[in-house]
Amino acid sequence: MEPAIKYRLIHQDKYTGARTGEIITPHGTFPTPMFMPVGTQASVKSIAPEELDEMGAGIILANTYHLWLQPGEDLVEQAGGLHKFMNWDKGILTDSGGFQVFSLAKHRDIKEEGVTFKDPSSGRTMFLSPEKAIQVENALGPDIMMSFDECPPYFETYDYIKKSVERTSRWAERGLKAHQNPTNQGLFGIVQGAGFKALRQQSARDLVSMDFPGYSVGGLSVGESKEEMNRVLEFTTPLLPENKPRYLMGVGTADSLIDGVIRGIDMFDCVLPTRIARNGTCMTSHGRLVVKNSQYARDFNPLDDNCDCYVCRNYTRAYIRHLIHVNETFGIRLTSYHNLYFLIHLMEDMREAIKNDQVLEFREMVFEQYGFNEE
Ligand code: GUN
Ligand code: ZN
Repeated sequence: MEPAIKYRLIHQDKYTGARTGEIITPHGTFPTPMFMPVGTQASVKSIAPEELDEMGAGIILANTYHLWLQPGEDLVEQAGGLHKFMNWDKGILTDSGGFQVFSLAKHRDIKEEGVTFKDPSSGRTMFLSPEKAIQVENALGPDIMMSFDECPPYFETYDYIKKSVERTSRWAERGLKAHQNPTNQGLFGIVQGAGFKALRQQSARDLVSMDFPGYSVGGLSVGESKEEMNRVLEFTTPLLPENKPRYLMGVGTADSLIDGVIRGIDMFDCVLPTRIARNGTCMTSHGRLVVKNSQYARDFNPLDDNCDCYVCRNYTRAYIRHLIHVNETFGIRLTSYHNLYFLIHLMEDMREAIKNDQVLEFREMVFEQYGFNEE
């Protein structure tokens, strides 16, 4: 059987775990490392698919959880699948709903069979299981689907995390069995285990034996420190096959992206760039810039003097600040566009640095210029 998702290595950095390559999907090939914009509800908030394409996004993320609740997977299937429904013909990855059930839903009850919870918007009682998540993901039709996992709180006991990892492995196995079209959609396994090396090893060993076409590292960026995340990545990515994609879930600060790549990660996603954009915060090569602050009222410079995006080429801080102040939605479109472009191009620069074996120099330069403020 030809797997739906393939990884091709282009160059492995001589001095770190960083690598550049490409991921081949049924909807095109994208270069790695890559940052994937998040379109939870089948829309990257305020950004059109043409714009995503223009800024170099080869793949975006959507959420099984949200689309299952609304508008429902049968409607999306009837529309011809997620790609047709939202007019995006490049890669799409859907998260399984595992994380969202644990972070968003109220009154959840976790059992071996699955998770029962109350949908906060309709009040309906819902049930999500590994099989149900796969059935919804098969109907939505993304190129990459994620296994239904439990993302436990980071600072739980060893015993709790061990039981959780074992259940996540059983759920992964059930998902694999339920998967209907592995030649068109690649199902990825999610390695859990919080900060425990032995449990990350156990989780990786279980999942790797099931031979998924790709793997993610889950359960990170949930309140632990950056040092802690780096420590876990340091021993977790080497447990994953070299010939398959490695995806770090829910990470989207510039420094964590660079530090993740150095530890062998190929793909990232996060709502951060679009979320902070909506309250007037921009990611720049000099750190974060809160453009809605009064100090930018008469600042006629671009958001970032090192950025050549459509926004930085055409608009000033003063104008964008004004739009955000008077609640013009165009302001949010501009900050969202710039922030996504910033992370996508950071990864593009990173790919160049890897090809030249200059990852460590690149990190040094970016961190220095960044001033390393609150990120
Ligand atoms: N998004 C961020 N972290 C996770 C995780 O651990 N599991 C899933 N399914 N999604 C995530
Ligand atoms: Zn810009």
